[in-house]
Amino acid sequence: MRGNPYLPALAKIVKTRRETPDTATFRLEIEGSGGLEFTPGQFIEVSAFGYGEAPFSISSSPLERSYVEVTVRRVGNVTRALFNMGEGGVVGVRGPFGRGWPIEEMKGQNLLMIGGGIGIAPLRPLIEYVIAHRNSFGDVILLYGARTPKDIVYKEELERWREHIDVRLTVDVGDETWRGRTGVVTVLLDDVEVDPRETYSVQCGPPIMIYFVTRRLVEMGFTDDRILFSLERLMKCGMGFCGHCMIGGKYVCRDGPVFKYSEVKGLLEPALVR
Ligand SMILES: Cc1cc2nc3c(=O)[nH]c(=O)nc-3n(C[C@H](O)[C@H](O)[C@H](O)COP(=O)(O)OP(=O)(O)OC[C@H]3O[C@@H](n4cnc5c(N)ncnc54)[C@H](O)[C@@H]3O)c2cc1C
Ligand code: FES
Repeated sequence: MRGNPYLPALAKIVKTRRETPDTATFRLEIEGSGGLEFTPGQFIEVSAFGYGEAPFSISSSPLERSYVEVTVRRVGNVTRALFNMGEGGVVGVRGPFGRGWPIEEMKGQNLLMIGGGIGIAPLRPLIEYVIAHRNSFGDVILLYGARTPKDIVYKEELERWREHIDVRLTVDVGDETWRGRTGVVTVLLDDVEVDPRETYSVQCGPPIMIYFVTRRLVEMGFTDDRILFSLERLMKCGMGFCGHCMIGGKYVCRDGPVFKYSEVKGLLEPALVR
């Protein structure tokens, strides 16, 4: 999108898909534009008029230009308004903003992706890109952890992705239907055999997950510049002007949300274990 970056474009919610009891994926068609060009890992600011604006990772494939999707957990004012609007609702969209996953740098390498809960959202466009360019990457493993089987998002996609990449799931707490692994997502790292010198690890999830997964990856021999994650901070402008999202000297909205551990080491730990 071009023009004044503070002015949202209007977008219609053309489809919603309930993922879990409190999470849904919204498909947005931006009015009067040729679609949205973005890099996996970037985010948009979505406004529910009369309620406010909030940042969401773009969760759709970058190869699909006619619409953009966001996967939203209902937690407060803006997210509740989006759920109440449903299909046909009109929202504002600014962006895309931020720095996404360094796809060109990762080409030719193995990928170890780790997602926790709804944190898998910014990995979805990357996974779709990798599958569409499967020969450009080595072994690709996705480790995904959710609280319970009911909290697993992208159930359809996970089945489709299995045909192209190695998908491994765990839930913190199983139920009578669950036959898979239980335990937090780090348990899945126990069975992973990759050469850390030829692998990039990319992760997104709650701060506590990033903290423990990063510690484990370091123990496994990953260097700090091969440990990548997407961070969340409270944001306003989304463009590096207001300072709301700063950690240390970095603007999460502009310099991130994707960072290498080497870029935020030392700045990050107190924020992750808060
Ligand atoms: C770069 C980025 C990408 C994001 N991507 C997604 C996404 O793909 N899907 C998604 O559901 N959410 C995502 N979020 C978080 C999302 O922006 C917040 O959930 C949203 O702003 C909440 O707005 P609200 O008005 O509904 O809630 P509010 O009424 O503002 O707050 C409700 C509760 O949520 C807490 N909260 C608000 N914002 C955040 C936040 N950023 N991090 C942690 N807690 C928060 C508040 O402290 C409060 O307890 C992302 C945030 C960032 C910065
Ligand atoms: S949100 Fe304004 S500087 Fe990052």
